[in-house]
Amino acid sequence: MRGAKITALGCYVPPRVLTNQDLEKLVDTSDEWIMQRVGIRERHIAPPEMATSDMAVLAACATLAQRGIPGSDIEAILLCTVTPDMMFPSTACLVQNRIGAKGAWGFDLVAACSGFLYGLTTAAHLVIAGAHKNVLVIGADTMSRIIDYTDRSTCVLFGDGAGAMLVEPAEPGEGFLGFLNEIDGAGGNFLKMPAGGSRLPASAETVANHQHFVKQEGQQVFKYAVTKMYEICRDLLYRHDLTPHDIKLFIPHQANLRVITAAAQRLGLRDDQVIINIDRYGNTTAATIPLAARDALEGGRLKKGDMVLFAAVGAGFTVGANLWKWEY
Ligand SMILES: CC(C)(COP(=O)(O)OP(=O)(O)OC[C@H]1O[C@@H](n2cnc3c(N)ncnc32)[C@H](O)[C@@H]1OP(=O)(O)O)[C@@H](O)C(=O)NCCC(=O)NCCS
Repeated sequence: MRGAKITALGCYVPPRVLTNQDLEKLVDTSDEWIMQRVGIRERHIAPPEMATSDMAVLAACATLAQRGIPGSDIEAILLCTVTPDMMFPSTACLVQNRIGAKGAWGFDLVAACSGFLYGLTTAAHLVIAGAHKNVLVIGADTMSRIIDYTDRSTCVLFGDGAGAMLVEPAEPGEGFLGFLNEIDGAGGNFLKMPAGGSRLPASAETVANHQHFVKQEGQQVFKYAVTKMYEICRDLLYRHDLTPHDIKLFIPHQANLRVITAAAQRLGLRDDQVIINIDRYGNTTAATIPLAARDALEGGRLKKGDMVLFAAVGAGFTVGANLWKWEY
């Protein structure tokens, strides 16, 4: 059986930066509170004319350019997002058309902050099964479009961005090593966008009630995330007969610095094994993991042959962890 490896990575963040000081002017908050409770200093915000597909296309093009292949080589596009341009057609279709991936298939994958890992897991299996040679996984979210900038409990948390990885065939034992993903719908009410779907279609009333924005019971999500981020990593490593010491890098979803450090400490990881960039981007939902991997690569902390543990917890609840050997 063949393997699957990540062969290229490209990202895009819009240039405009929204700092904690900017937010202090919008809501009753402070740089000190945000840094202490969440660890975010600034986040990037897309301009009004830019939608999720626009950022996704830019991340996809950067990935294709890095690999030196045209869009027409892509056979499947897995577009992970909770902020599609519109309900349908899927954002995957919009991106397919613009990158010239003629003949490809693809779909939008809705798993919130775990989306990118579910995409990577799916891509790996499409490649390992021999179905495809080039699968593009894109995580892209324009969270600023579904954030209520009068709600201090959520508006400080999120930012916009996109990242993509190309998955290609590999020798057995290279690249993808394993995964452990779970969903737990019992937690669905703690983090959601209530209106705009078939349960509560858009109306003047839903707009007046701010129901097209992210609603979160922060403490409930926090408690779940702290426990699950640790457990999913522990269990995946155990399945593969590995210990945290065998891992070169832990690249977690970036939602709250306290969630990351609590998981890392319980796993017994050293600081130099953990990638943190939440201070500069905030929670970009499906884009955090490729953005963190990009920063690790550019900072010289991620190299060919390194074993990487990715992990995420998100709305749903969704939980996921992936083990990969980095191959370029
Ligand atoms: C959102 C989160 C940062 C809030 O932190 P917290 O320590 O749980 O804070 P609480 O919600 O208990 O609120 C504590 C107090 O801070 C206040 N507060 C909330 N947001 C604030 C802000 N931006 N600035 C200042 N004060 C704020 C609350 O109103 C509350 O005040 P009160 O005690 O007077 O009622 C935290 O719960 C969290 O990170 N949750 C998980 C988020 C997450 O990971 N989401 C994505 C999943 S992928």
